[in-house]
Amino acid sequence: MDTTALFELLDIRDDDARECAALLATPPSPAVLAALAALEGRLGTFPAGSGTAEGCGESDWIEALLRFAPVTAAHHGSAGIPAEITAATLADIGLNLRINRRVHGRFGLDTWAWLTLHLAGNMFRLGRLQYHLVRSTGGMSPAPEGEWIVGIHIPEDGGLSPAVVDESLLMARAFLDRHFPDKPVRLATCDSWMLDPYLAERLPESNIASFARRFTVDRCSEAASDGVYFTFRTRDMENLAQLPRDTSLQRAVLERIDDGGSWQLGHGYLELPAAP
Ligand SMILES: CC(C)(COP(=O)(O)OP(=O)(O)OC[C@H]1O[C@@H](n2cnc3c(N)ncnc32)[C@H](O)[C@@H]1OP(=O)(O)O)[C@@H](O)C(=O)NCCC(=O)NCCS
Repeated sequence: MDTTALFELLDIRDDDARECAALLATPPSPAVLAALAALEGRLGTFPAGSGTAEGCGESDWIEALLRFAPVTAAHHGSAGIPAEITAATLADIGLNLRINRRVHGRFGLDTWAWLTLHLAGNMFRLGRLQYHLVRSTGGMSPAPEGEWIVGIHIPEDGGLSPAVVDESLLMARAFLDRHFPDKPVRLATCDSWMLDPYLAERLPESNIASFARRFTVDRCSEAASDGVYFTFRTRDMENLAQLPRDTSLQRAVLERIDDGGSWQLGHGYLELPAAP
């Protein structure tokens, strides 16, 4: 695959495309080869966690993700997964490169670990949401150990109206039944700052609250910076007073911290709708 086709597949644009082309212009270093070997070892194994490789830095991982993406695309293709679903899934790489520029003001991918999940072949963007097909490990999970579940993720890509969520959940049901009939999925889980019960109480009419109410949240854990990161795209927790308070969400996130509260990660689950 040439770089033009690759960058189109991954939705990598403008300055990011130039930086990525520069990474691909020289042969892979030993660190990149180690990251590539890690990605290869994960492909098709339905891992739940991110890839790791000794001695690999952010730039090595970007290069490895770029070099490996066509392998994941071919793997999807051989499993009969429609090319547009593969492209929608892998476009998260370009989106995260753009988000990195907003967060750090430069080329990079501080979320590279998240993107290693996509390249293992068991993450799918279906309509508005992403679905990560894994086996439950039991324990705190709502599903017994070994049962197939999907982890739901919410990419930044416009609003989250109930209609787009309904549509996506139905797409997921149809997709899983069609492509993974040997991996029956009953439950979808979501671990997110958006499921912090404080948010639905504070902004009951919002799309985020309506999304959160779909889930049974059985526990919460500390995630002090998640609300700030996803609302403001900053990892700086020291200068919160300078952040804007233009939207109701921005105000809710900051006022909770002003009041001495701490944002939580809500751990929730829902039953996927039955096929119509
Ligand atoms: C989740 C998301 C799509 C919700 O968008 P939405 O449908 O517009 O959200 P709502 O309608 O519930 O928004 C309610 C209010 O919050 C504001 N808001 C929503 N997301 C916002 C954001 N990222 N930054 C600032 N304000 C935001 C809306 O403008 C609205 O403000 P208003 O009441 O002053 O008009 C959006 O927040 C987003 O892209 N978040 C980043 C991705 C993310 O957090 N993923 C989860 C990772 S665990």
